[in-house]
Amino acid sequence: MADLQFGKNGWTPARIGSLKGKTYVITGATSGTGFEATKILASKGAKVVTLNRNPKKSEECMGKIKEELGVDVDVSYVTMDLGNQASVKAAAAEVLKKVDRIDALLCNGAIAQVPEQKFTVDGFESQLGVNYYGHWTLQALLFDLIDKSNGRIVTVGSMGYDMGIKTIKFDDMNWDKGYQGNNVYSQSKLAQIMSIYELQDRLKKAGNTNVKAYACHPGSSSTSLITTSGSLGMRIVFGLMKLSPMVQSAEKGAYPELMCATESNLDESGFYGPTGRANWVGPVGNCGIKAHALDKKVSKRLWEVSEKATGVSWNL
Ligand SMILES: NC(=O)c1ccc[n+]([C@@H]2O[C@H](COP(=O)([O-])OP(=O)(O)OC[C@H]3O[C@@H](n4cnc5c(N)ncnc54)[C@H](OP(=O)(O)O)[C@@H]3O)[C@@H](O)[C@H]2O)c1
Repeated sequence: MADLQFGKNGWTPARIGSLKGKTYVITGATSGTGFEATKILASKGAKVVTLNRNPKKSEECMGKIKEELGVDVDVSYVTMDLGNQASVKAAAAEVLKKVDRIDALLCNGAIAQVPEQKFTVDGFESQLGVNYYGHWTLQALLFDLIDKSNGRIVTVGSMGYDMGIKTIKFDDMNWDKGYQGNNVYSQSKLAQIMSIYELQDRLKKAGNTNVKAYACHPGSSSTSLITTSGSLGMRIVFGLMKLSPMVQSAEKGAYPELMCATESNLDESGFYGPTGRANWVGPVGNCGIKAHALDKKVSKRLWEVSEKATGVSWNL
């Protein structure tokens, strides 16, 4: 059941006060919700470090934000390819040199509905490698500073978590059998969400009350997601959908992650996003999370598989 704890219009960035002195790190800010979230955080006085794969696009986006908000806004970028574990490790090291606190890490970047099975340089299926394992390693390597800062980890999931096979294909993580772009995307987003709820449990067990972890989704937002990596068919379908009221602006799509990064006393057990029809559009609140995303046996195993696959463990 949807819960609109911030009133009938839902949560909006009007609730964010001054963010002077706060630092946010966000992935995938060269487009879509990541770009909009960066702009809003910067407009409230925060320092924002964006982690993007394309330096030319990064330059252009930082330029656009400064043009709009003024040259004094504190936005910068580090080049990082989420689909390359060495690049993620190097970017994390650079971030740690650049900032002395992280109030929230927003795991926003992604590819979606890749029509054919492809692999990252590390041999992971591309959507799992970019969306899930890339963020896994980034989160683990920035964890100590987030901990010291009483910070948050925010994962941008998708309602796709409730589509596809609704679990993790442990016996065939790369989908060598039966690859299907939508199902594999859904699994990568489910993995991202499950690891947040598993992290909450592990933090609790470790007696850590410094770090908060949140899962959210942007509903259906008019961004470059499908045009960047989807099939021609999906691009046509989404192109038509964008003309309908079932798709909202990229700016509105950024609200849930901004809410999770900045709102005080937000219940970590929620799953935040638009609460209107099919949770695709509408006022932002708690959409509720379905039981398969909280399956303890699966999330525990996923955590262990991820440590082994990446060779990266968390200092919990
Ligand atoms: N739009 C929707 O309707 C929708 C629905 C459900 C969930 N989501 C989620 O919302 C989040 C934001 O997506 P969006 O819709 O804003 O899509 P978008 O406009 O395509 O933005 C995705 C961002 O991720 C970056 N990215 C892609 N691969 C990367 C890599 N290997 N390394 C580093 N960065 C990479 C992109 O960089 P480039 O600019 O270089 O491509 C871009 O900045 C994603 O997590 C997505 O799964 C979106």
